[in-house]
Amino acid sequence: MKIGIIGLGFVGLSFAAVLGSKGFSVIGFDNNKKKIEKINSKKPPFFEPKLELFLKKALAKSLEISSDIRKVVKNCDFIFLTVGTPKLKSGHIDLSMLKNASKDIGTSLRYSQKKPIIVVKSTVVPGTTINTIRQIIEKSSGEKNGNGFNIVTNPEFLKEGSAIEDTLNPHLVVIGGLNKKSINRLRSFYQELYGPKIKIMITNPQTAEMIKYANNSFLATKISFINQISSLCQSIPGINIDEIADAIGVDPRIGKQFLKAGPGYGGSCLPKDLSTMIEFSSKIGTNPVLLKAVRQTNDLQIKQIVQLIEKKLKSVKNKRITILGLSFKENTDDVRESRSTELIKTLLRKNSKITVHDPMAMKNMESIFTNKITYANSLSEALKNSQCVVIMTPWKVYTKLKNSDFQKMEKKLIVDTRRILSGKNLNAEYLALGLGLN
Ligand code: UGA
Repeated sequence: MKIGIIGLGFVGLSFAAVLGSKGFSVIGFDNNKKKIEKINSKKPPFFEPKLELFLKKALAKSLEISSDIRKVVKNCDFIFLTVGTPKLKSGHIDLSMLKNASKDIGTSLRYSQKKPIIVVKSTVVPGTTINTIRQIIEKSSGEKNGNGFNIVTNPEFLKEGSAIEDTLNPHLVVIGGLNKKSINRLRSFYQELYGPKIKIMITNPQTAEMIKYANNSFLATKISFINQISSLCQSIPGINIDEIADAIGVDPRIGKQFLKAGPGYGGSCLPKDLSTMIEFSSKIGTNPVLLKAVRQTNDLQIKQIVQLIEKKLKSVKNKRITILGLSFKENTDDVRESRSTELIKTLLRKNSKITVHDPMAMKNMESIFTNKITYANSLSEALKNSQCVVIMTPWKVYTKLKNSDFQKMEKKLIVDTRRILSGKNLNAEYLALGLGLN
């Protein structure tokens, strides 16, 4: 059995590295030659814990990286589509990479004896697998689904920052197929990978596609819910949102995860998937009032942070403000839709002078803000002469901050959006989201 993986981003490369490390015969494909070179030199093109280790193991065992899609189609029994479906300005998703890959697979099928199972892992709105991808492959290959190939939807639930861990131990595998034979083949593959006890849910493609959006929309809803309660708590002296989250999280109907109040959710998935669901709902004639409120609540978090700073500094114009943490969460260098990006944009519009620091994401942020902000080489350089520091991403290194680190600030004002310093006796003015001032 040979496996092809088309698109080597977070999902594709993590999957390829895990499969290869376990000895599955894999060809990873990407059309970005630079990326291919980097991966072949055993270096992941982005930071993800444990990925380098697994990639090295996989390359030494049974992972081959290629930019030849015909080779993938000619040799592989399963072809996983893991290309990105980024957000367009309209709120819809950009299917161009997926359409191109589907067309290339279809064309290559004309030169192949294989009848592969084509597995759509990319996030797409309900109906896309059947109405768009299947049709493109049928047209370009001259074969019908069920004869020359079989198409299946198989959404992915891994998180950045724990992509390898999540790929090794998924909580569920969802298979959305059109016929029993292809569903059973993919089920057998996953049972071989994860063992017979792995939870597998079988459904049709459009339900599988919707499960992915429902999952991410619910996670976003949970975060916006706790952020709204957090904003309430902030106005009531003596209340701490984390105690409330801990207590309600014990109720098994609610659950502990995704109840960390903060600056709002960012990243390449939750904001995009929520916007897509809102656009999709409107298109099919429903008004997604709850999802719109979730998004609005998320947008309010940045406004609230700015208001907190303005309350203390009067105006932020010409004030030197330090932002600690640029990635959308800890343990990743990904800054896509990160809340720090939004905060910096807002503060720049108000003519603040911004200095930033992040253990991993400085280079990615530089490509967005170029010379409009200052990039500090160290934490002490970031804090020196600053009039306010805002902690945005809960990197471990920031949890260790102590009084001496803030010594050289011009004004010792700390705004902690994640409450990581809340237990400390700080010789500074300390404000935090979700903590009611005494
Ligand atoms: C999310 C989902 O969690 C994955 O299940 C899904 O597979 C993935 O999107 C995807 O669609 O590909 P990810 O974007 O990597 O994963 O990151 P999350 O861990 O969900 O965090 C998203 C944002 O929510 C971050 O900005 C994080 O700081 C924030 N967050 C998360 C909170 O503010 N509070 C929480 O309690 C949890």
